[in-house]
Amino acid sequence: MLFCIIMKTIIEPFRIKAVEPIKFTTETERNHILQEAGYNPFLIKAEDIIIDLLTDSGTSAMSAKQWAGIMDGDESYAGSRSFYRFEEMVRLITGMKFIIPTHQGRAAEKILFSIVGEHGKVIPNNTHFDTTRANIEFAGAEAVDLLNEAGKHPEIIADFKGNMDIEKLEAFIQERGVEHIPLVMVTVTNNSGGGQPVSMQNIKDIRAVCDQYGLPLFIDACRFAENAYFIKKREQGYADRSILSICQEMFSYADGMTMSAKKDALVNIGGFLAMNNQELAMQCRNVLIVTEGFPTYGGLAGRDLEAMAQGLEEILDESYLHYRIRSVEYLGDKLLAAGVPIIEPTGGHAIYIDAKRFCQHIPSYQFPGQAVSVALYQKGGVRACEIGSVMFGKYDENQQLIPPPMELVRLAIPRRVYTQSHIDYVAEVIIEVFQNRNSLKGYQIVYEAPMLRHFTARFAPLA
Ligand SMILES: Cc1ncc(COP(=O)(O)O)c(C=O)c1O
Repeated sequence: MLFCIIMKTIIEPFRIKAVEPIKFTTETERNHILQEAGYNPFLIKAEDIIIDLLTDSGTSAMSAKQWAGIMDGDESYAGSRSFYRFEEMVRLITGMKFIIPTHQGRAAEKILFSIVGEHGKVIPNNTHFDTTRANIEFAGAEAVDLLNEAGKHPEIIADFKGNMDIEKLEAFIQERGVEHIPLVMVTVTNNSGGGQPVSMQNIKDIRAVCDQYGLPLFIDACRFAENAYFIKKREQGYADRSILSICQEMFSYADGMTMSAKKDALVNIGGFLAMNNQELAMQCRNVLIVTEGFPTYGGLAGRDLEAMAQGLEEILDESYLHYRIRSVEYLGDKLLAAGVPIIEPTGGHAIYIDAKRFCQHIPSYQFPGQAVSVALYQKGGVRACEIGSVMFGKYDENQQLIPPPMELVRLAIPRRVYTQSHIDYVAEVIIEVFQNRNSLKGYQIVYEAPMLRHFTARFAPLA
């Protein structure tokens, strides 16, 4: 830590003990692979990817202590020691009374919304992540985003672009009626809105509105530690606070949380649901038993709980978070220097290319984000993820696309996986594609599923 402070170079606060080979492909091979995959990077085999930035979810490198925990996990069906270690760690960070393990974040969402969501109900959030939105809609309820205005403009530089618009929240509650709102949610950091953080003040303000109307507040907490780091660095009064105490304060304003442990718990699988309301927790556990498993393992093995507990301890390390946020910023700086339009400032876990500005000649209905992500694979074998009209586009009664506010391409950086030279390579690929952006063509969808279409859709390039 001291070394990092004295020297200008920020180094990875770990050394590498096990490596995985990367297979190299040629551009001709990748053209063929793309055709086979219907121009959808989700449908490309992972072994055909050179640098995989599709997601930071479940892609972390685990530590030696986590792997040791995998061996040490207690696989008892009920009352596993690993559950109690996990529960203790989650309680230390969040203060939540009832902690319910699930196999991943969306399972926690599914359980929660199968209980509180039904036709006529509506759930506000800064920005719902796609699985959260899908689970709410699947339960028959409506998901509404109330992001602050700055968060919708990639070029505006502000400290907390993930904040919820408090005035809109109040107006929304009054317009829809408290009786239709089972809970308010806030996502930290705001994944679908650029990985931008939410300030402590905003969380406090949301809490105050919730108190005024007697509504519970739930945090979608996947990247809680990255959010806490931003609070420490950017919000007045937090510079001398430990990451743990900032996290504890964040969660003290909430009544419950959903968590995908595949992000800030540094594991490859896992999640949980936590809350203070006993009645709701009992209902959730009843659903859990039917859909996931016994309450002391959820949808997981004891070893997974052990790895989560260890990961939650490691994520609180400030030198890790410093390296983590800086390495994302490093890629952002290189792209900005070359004129590549990205969401500014860079967020916690990913770089978001602004595809609207990147290829201005491709309209939303021809999916500019898809065009950029396909080109990144074609040029350099880099896999990214479209977060725009493919993922969030809706259609009106005339089948005209209603695009989301932003057309983005997300390059999510897996935790503790790639080195600086990998990131330099990624920058080179993006810059090369950007310099030839006028040659990019739009796409049309030739197959789509009724929900979460981006995972399985197939595309054809337009002439
Ligand atoms: C903000 C947010 N919420 C929920 C989820 C869903 O978690 P999981 O993929 O573990 O189901 C994700 C996953 O990326 C996410 O980023």
